[in-house]
Amino acid sequence: MSALLVGLDVGTSGSKALAIDAESGAVVASATREHRLDTPHPRWAEQDPNELRDAALGALADLARALGARARDVAAIGLTGQMHTAILLDDELCPVRPAMLWCDGRATDACAAITAKLGHEGLRRTVKNLALEGFTVPKLVWLREHEPAALARVRHVLMPKDWVGLALTGELGTDVSDAAGTLAFDPEARAWSAELIAALDLDASWFPPAGESGSRLGALCADAARATGLPEGTPVARGAADNAAGAVGLGVVRDGRAMISLGTSGVVLAHTAQLRVDPAMRLHAFSAAVPGASYLMGVMLSAGGALRWYRDAVAHAPYDAIVADAERAEPGAGGLVFLPYLAGERTPHHDAAARGAFVGLTLRTGQAELARAVLEGISFGLADTWAVLHALEPSVRPDEVRLTGGGARSAFWRQLLADVLDAEVTTTSSTEGPAFGAALLGGVAAGIDASVEAAAERTVEVRERLAPRPALVRRYAEVRAEYVAAYGDLRARFAALGALG
Ligand code: XUL
Repeated sequence: MSALLVGLDVGTSGSKALAIDAESGAVVASATREHRLDTPHPRWAEQDPNELRDAALGALADLARALGARARDVAAIGLTGQMHTAILLDDELCPVRPAMLWCDGRATDACAAITAKLGHEGLRRTVKNLALEGFTVPKLVWLREHEPAALARVRHVLMPKDWVGLALTGELGTDVSDAAGTLAFDPEARAWSAELIAALDLDASWFPPAGESGSRLGALCADAARATGLPEGTPVARGAADNAAGAVGLGVVRDGRAMISLGTSGVVLAHTAQLRVDPAMRLHAFSAAVPGASYLMGVMLSAGGALRWYRDAVAHAPYDAIVADAERAEPGAGGLVFLPYLAGERTPHHDAAARGAFVGLTLRTGQAELARAVLEGISFGLADTWAVLHALEPSVRPDEVRLTGGGARSAFWRQLLADVLDAEVTTTSSTEGPAFGAALLGGVAAGIDASVEAAAERTVEVRERLAPRPALVRRYAEVRAEYVAAYGDLRARFAALGALG
């Protein structure tokens, strides 16, 4: 019997624990426990840190039960989880308030204050990224204004996987990819930015040691071993942010490869062996799980989320039926464009006030055109990030896009993306997402693989390759131009409608 590796993904809707065979990468067992997301005010998104931790430990316990006697073969655990989410601890390592999530949009004024203080140039020099509501530091700046008593009690700032890592090992720490998502970290130096932390009057001691993703955080402590049923002393890797771990799990570990994740949010991520920064910082420039490497990333807030909205509010039909509808319509949906900005938009607009829209309805518009416009609109949103990558000097032009997430299960959508992006779109043997990458990082920390790249290359293979079809590439380029123009035309209207309430 070969050793097993466990990956634990502390996600937004729940925690997933996955066990793979260390040699082949084959999935042996998995378990998931859900947790709640609270929205006590519009634009807020919070979770109870204790509930999050209990769900994560519960998922590990369920996994150990599923493994039975084989739980003894677990050689390492790797961590991953939602990015940017702030878990704030006091001097007794207890949460001072609910976690503030990556999709929490309350910190718009804090972002403006940070940008005013450092300037665009200061942000580019220190942390290489814009101040955006989703990131961690703007949440701390928001607290100073709105909950000063809570901020006064803060001694440690952790991301969800690090909070669970603390429960598993007793160690306070994070990895470079999650550190980069805070906005307090310089991805060029791969170190916390003393300059930004001082400029914003934050405390450097709040930020835990940040090591490479495949390095060891600690070992499973006796309490956690009892709670989970996994062997005490098992090495625990720091692991990586969900997108960074997802990239590893798809083999996106070298230049020329990119990932698109079609979940609730939509992510376009291009690996860059050398740090690349978009001068306008439209794309995030974060540290990758591969030591020394980075990635450029754009995030759509509603990708699968927009499709879910369409299913629940309009179609009242299962996803398969919606895709079958879309296939009946012509490319371009008869001149109908859908803007998927149902929760505002991050990349490329950085516009929390953006809204969704169907533009171009006629009496001939039917279910098929509506469905097609929704799938095309989400794909055009992903193409926006793709276009920014191409426009960089020198341009970043990945020659292969590996797909993951629920949307990747649709053959129609996979081909649509190949045509809209004008790129080869592939699927891989790995369908388990970030938890799979985290398990591989565990193997690196335990010395089973010599490097992150070796682990990914050994266990991930390409299954399907879809080439773009030239006639459709041309057609979608025309339609996308209208999509881009429609947002420009409507931007002011969205803000005005938001103000109406
Ligand atoms: C990335 C982002 C999301 C979360 C989801 O910047 O905000 O993709 O990582 O967990």
